[in-house]
Amino acid sequence: MSTVPAPTARVTPRTLHTKKTRGEPVVMVTAYDYPSAKAADAAGVDAILVGDSLGMVVLGYDDTLRVTMDDMLHHARAVARARTAALRIGDLPFLSYQADVADAVRNAGRFLADGGMDAVKLEGGRERAGTVRAIVEAGIPVMGHLGLTPQSIRALGGYRVQAATAESARRVLDDALRLEDAGCFALVLEAIPDRVAALVTGRLEIPTIGIGAGAACGGQVLVWHDLLGWEDRISPRFVKRYASMAGEAREALGAYAADVRARRFPAAEHVYPIADAEWSRLEADLAAHPPAGRRREPVAW
Ligand code: KIV
Repeated sequence: MSTVPAPTARVTPRTLHTKKTRGEPVVMVTAYDYPSAKAADAAGVDAILVGDSLGMVVLGYDDTLRVTMDDMLHHARAVARARTAALRIGDLPFLSYQADVADAVRNAGRFLADGGMDAVKLEGGRERAGTVRAIVEAGIPVMGHLGLTPQSIRALGGYRVQAATAESARRVLDDALRLEDAGCFALVLEAIPDRVAALVTGRLEIPTIGIGAGAACGGQVLVWHDLLGWEDRISPRFVKRYASMAGEAREALGAYAADVRARRFPAAEHVYPIADAEWSRLEADLAAHPPAGRRREPVAW
């Protein structure tokens, strides 16, 4: 099994830029809590995204639209407590940045000041360029997100490949350039043809991070639950599963239940002993001073 060396210094947006200039792929994964952030960091990933995919894979919603800033901050704080070397990016949820630029700056700031994140991500193209600029001017690094943007799922009409026509591919390229101009330090490209992603990647100075966008991107991101096989409701074409955690968890929990029911657990090695001398003293005490009888009727369950 191959391992990735853990980064020794804190990863910053500049580190990702350096990786792009050196042709080194950026490794990003989502994480939503302390243990997953610890594990991702120990594996040496460069960036951890506290994604609003949280709504689907952790909170059980059918889409990401109901995720709130409070939900995101709760999970961001847990990730931040892992004190990772990896860059930590908080995903601005639906309606936390679309309605008003001042709101967007404030919510982005909350991710840093209250959520312990290093940067934020938001979805959208040219229509978000002004918002990106305002957040960047507030001193907050911004990652963009183009292609399949799940917060626009109602407008897109479903989870489907984007930029598959010449016009829509051109639009993604132009949007990418506008976001780079506005100050994004990196750009997620989701579910677009690999040749379009390669074109965009080649025209930008900032790294692209692909998810369903092919190998030419400057890096890759996968959702924790997809990568580890925790999520078995949907399996998009672009997901590679590196483990079958849902199956393993079911097996382990089944074995635990069987052990408890057969009284195989806990065994001797799982219990705390009391010294024989103390036990004898307790028995003597009970014999000499039997406990008083019940003072009230037992609760009827
Ligand atoms: O919310 C998320 O997990 C994301 C990734 C799919 C990039 O936006």
